[in-house]
Amino acid sequence: MDFKLNGKRALVLGASRGLGAASAILLAEEGASVVAASRSGALPQGLPEALGKRVTAVRLDLEDPASVETVKQTLRDNPVDILVNNCGGPKAGPAWGQSTATWQAAFMAMAAPVFDITDAALAGMTENGWGRIITIGSSGIEAPIPNLALSNGVRGAMAGWSKTLAGEVASRGVTVNMVLPGRIATDRVAELDAGKAEKTGQSVEAVREASRATIPAGRYGKPEEFAAVVAFLASEQASFVNGSMIRADGGMIRSI
Ligand SMILES: NC(=O)c1ccc[n+]([C@@H]2O[C@H](COP(=O)([O-])OP(=O)(O)OC[C@H]3O[C@@H](n4cnc5c(N)ncnc54)[C@H](OP(=O)(O)O)[C@@H]3O)[C@@H](O)[C@H]2O)c1
Repeated sequence: MDFKLNGKRALVLGASRGLGAASAILLAEEGASVVAASRSGALPQGLPEALGKRVTAVRLDLEDPASVETVKQTLRDNPVDILVNNCGGPKAGPAWGQSTATWQAAFMAMAAPVFDITDAALAGMTENGWGRIITIGSSGIEAPIPNLALSNGVRGAMAGWSKTLAGEVASRGVTVNMVLPGRIATDRVAELDAGKAEKTGQSVEAVREASRATIPAGRYGKPEEFAAVVAFLASEQASFVNGSMIRADGGMIRSI
């Protein structure tokens, strides 16, 4: 299927590796010109050489207001059609006993800059009457993950924001959706599994086996399987999908 992304311009946040990188690469494969933003300013890991001309990398630290401001200014000068919001994951920990400062820091690292950058991107999208805002969330929004209170809480706020925004801009040709990863095999997930193995004294393979057992598909997802959902939501064909949260989890979330 031709997603009709030729000539579209995309900004992907957190795009040097993992889910962001896979999304940036697939959007470029589908014909979009992609700006890949991350703290390192590195090109998406695994970017095929043939796509090099379609992807540029910029530095962006979502935790640094000056860096966010620079990206907002760039968006004013160079509007995009597609924005993929992504961020680093916060530290693990329980809900009980988190300080207000910790909650504030997590919100300021994940939600606030995404809201801010989206507002800047919306100016051009609403003017052109076409736009796609796609925010990467987590299965923890629908089924809160034990000991990931900061992620569950802040991403829950992002889900409320995304749905509200979807109702505000749809009549201007802009769709706003989220994609919820379950367990996708990225560097971050490998690091989390290794950390859990160290903490519990299990082997990494035992940790992975226990994790796989919770997924009806019996395996972790591949970043490109996740990116396929992002690319669909960015497509012309997804024009009537708005305010949705689409799971890419192999059936891991058990609720309807
Ligand atoms: N993979 C999964 O199965 C899964 C499941 C649920 C939720 N998630 C969430 O989905 C998001 C992406 O996951 P992932 O597995 O792809 O993670 P990842 O492999 O750690 O990649 C995170 C990306 O974000 C960038 N980044 C991190 N902090 C940043 C910051 N302050 N400013 C700008 N860019 C930043 C990183 O690049 P630099 O280091 O170069 O900045 C990297 O490109 C995370 O929030 C994660 O918690 C993932």
